[in-house]
Amino acid sequence: MTIHHIGIIMNGVTGRMGTNQHLIRSIAAIRKQGGLPLPNGDVILPDPILVGRSASKLAALAEANGISRWSTDLAACLANPADTVYFDAQITSSRAESVKQAIAAGKHIYCEKPTGSSLAQSLELARLAREAGVKNGVVQDKLFLPGLIKLKRLVDSGFFGKILSVRMEFGYWVFEGDWQAAQRPSWNYRKEDGGGIIVDMFAHWRYVLDNLFGEVRAVSCLGVTHIDERVDENGKPYACTADDAAYATFLLEGGVVVQANSSWTVRVNREDLLTIQVDGTEGSAVAGLRDCKTQHRVNTCKPVWNPDIPNPFSFRDQWQEVPDNQIFDNGFKAQWELFLKHIVLDTPFPWDLLEGAKGTQLSDLGLRSWQERRWIDVPELTI
Ligand SMILES: NC(=O)c1ccc[n+]([C@@H]2O[C@H](COP(=O)([O-])OP(=O)(O)OC[C@H]3O[C@@H](n4cnc5c(N)ncnc54)[C@H](O)[C@@H]3O)[C@@H](O)[C@H]2O)c1
Repeated sequence: MTIHHIGIIMNGVTGRMGTNQHLIRSIAAIRKQGGLPLPNGDVILPDPILVGRSASKLAALAEANGISRWSTDLAACLANPADTVYFDAQITSSRAESVKQAIAAGKHIYCEKPTGSSLAQSLELARLAREAGVKNGVVQDKLFLPGLIKLKRLVDSGFFGKILSVRMEFGYWVFEGDWQAAQRPSWNYRKEDGGGIIVDMFAHWRYVLDNLFGEVRAVSCLGVTHIDERVDENGKPYACTADDAAYATFLLEGGVVVQANSSWTVRVNREDLLTIQVDGTEGSAVAGLRDCKTQHRVNTCKPVWNPDIPNPFSFRDQWQEVPDNQIFDNGFKAQWELFLKHIVLDTPFPWDLLEGAKGTQLSDLGLRSWQERRWIDVPELTI
């Protein structure tokens, strides 16, 4: 048995996503389980070095997760040939510069979305990685949610017949930070720091729609900044310069119509923080983060509009749960494992920097559609 030690430079790992999803639930979890077993009996053992700006935070995080290496000097880390992978979960506006340095140092790249602050920047990263011949991947975690895995199963089985439309409701109330602390970092609400829900969520919607229902071909989007002022992590009020809600329609290859509401200013009255309803000629489904329920054509009730009588239907009871039928691991960990196998075994990993750039393309075009108050076509993207 061979143990494949993979040195990973993890930058931005003191942040919300870096700490919780990528370090604790993914890399530290893989180490705790003794590494990632391969079919031939070998094991991949990730060996991370935590990188960031605050020595005290890094030291505490490393200690808490049984990791011996940390550094505040990215250039020195990139100079170490033993660390072959660079991972980035910094704030979006800092990502491109660091990824470029890592590509120049010959590292394989894995990073959070959005990959850049503009399509030009995201495409440049994809091009540089291709030219350098380094492997590369972008986090597309929603594809690994149990609810979406079940939805994909339904699509692949032909359950829907012809898919007509998709309704996506995403969001929850993010507190303003005055009388209750906000659940998201304040940079999300400042355009100048790379914030905004369109930039954040359209990066997800692109790969979700492309992978499940067909390539996005056109977008119409209205963005809004509903809350003008919030209070930051230090108790200081700041002006919100970025959109906190987006009301969008997408047209997909094949004619599927998608309505997507994304909002940090909505109070949840649905079964989950993200729900996706798919209506097809043969059946419909509603997926949340973990669950998915269906209603087949033959089980569809026949309501008649009549407000003069009490509603005789209990609509939510007319759906059937899709069973788990498998064990679902954390989605970020599942994707990390595929990326590590891609590095060691060269197994396919389709979610690369070019796919990531498609997410930036959609948010760029969504912002333009809002600004110009019109539908915009989404052209094919090539490097
Ligand atoms: N895949 C997902 O579902 C998902 C969800 C949320 C956020 N994200 C992405 O992950 C990235 C990080 O988001 P987060 O919510 O963890 O943010 P965060 O503010 O909690 O963490 C940001 C990290 O970047 C570092 N950083 C580097 N330069 C900085 C600067 N100038 N100002 C502030 N921090 C700086 C911080 O030290 C910290 O480690 C973003 O690109 C975001 O779009 C992805």
